[in-house]
Amino acid sequence: MDATKTRPLQFQRFDRLNRTLHILMIVSFMSLALTGMTLKFSYTGWAGVLSRMLGGFESAGFIHRGAATVMFGIFVTHLWDLNRKRRRDYEGSFWKMLTGPNTMLFTRRDLRELVGSLKWFVGTGPRPRYGRWTYWEKFDYFAVFWGIFVIGSTGLMLWFPVFFTRFLPGWFINVATIIHSDEALLATGFIFTVHFFNTHLRPEKFPMDLVVFTGRMPLAEFKRDKPAEFDELVASGKLEQNLIWPYQQVVIRTYRIIAWTALAVGTLMILWIIYAMVFAYR
Ligand code: HEM
Repeated sequence: MDATKTRPLQFQRFDRLNRTLHILMIVSFMSLALTGMTLKFSYTGWAGVLSRMLGGFESAGFIHRGAATVMFGIFVTHLWDLNRKRRRDYEGSFWKMLTGPNTMLFTRRDLRELVGSLKWFVGTGPRPRYGRWTYWEKFDYFAVFWGIFVIGSTGLMLWFPVFFTRFLPGWFINVATIIHSDEALLATGFIFTVHFFNTHLRPEKFPMDLVVFTGRMPLAEFKRDKPAEFDELVASGKLEQNLIWPYQQVVIRTYRIIAWTALAVGTLMILWIIYAMVFAYR
């Protein structure tokens, strides 16, 4: 008998496509951030070391463009997946998808949960009964949407300046460099601190939450973390359809290594950025 089937079933939170897209996002974002910061902080000793490891500044630029292409691919695939879900789960209606109970858009309930969370943090209220997506998960999601729009569009201007200056004034390229560079710094700072804290370092998940890699979470954890979603699935009789066998230990261990590596690289980058900005800024 398969050893994994002797353990209790788990709740499936993410499907295979979304897990794959998230791993590709980690790889492309880290590559973009590492190669980009090597250019931005080229005056620090670390940038020299990193650029040598990456094959020189020119090859860092080449990796940057390659990773950017992967990121655009992730974005388009995600939009395609949303459209597929609209047809499959929402009778073809965007409106139903965007106003349904599992919407990614901010609603009044998110505001209530934000206020409830603040009260809970200071011990004056109970933990809100979060549903499928919490307000901080929605915020992280739209931060990426916004980031791809702003960083991606300015990145394309830097990549194809001759094309863009056919219809934009030349100074736009200078402005695009500043926006790209500063928004990239903001995105890197946000992902490697706030996003890491929200997902892995908050006390309920510390030190690591593997759900985005395995797609699965133990039922007891699901019930505690997202009680409203759990209750809705039980009430509608749909919980069973969302249960799945856990992965084998070897798979979980592999994901753990990938996740810790990403966490370590991100944290080292934050330290490098602080050092570059505070002690070596030019
Ligand atoms: C997603 C689409 C993106 C495209 C098309 C793009 C493209 C570019 C291009 C063409 C350059 C000019 C440097 C060179 O010649 O090699 C550049 C610079 C840079 N990129 Fe990106 N990039 C993208 C995303 C990102 C992301 C996600 C980050 C970081 C999180 C980032 C960080 C940087 C930084 C820090 C620089 C150096 C800017 C400076 O000189 O101050 N880029 N990018």
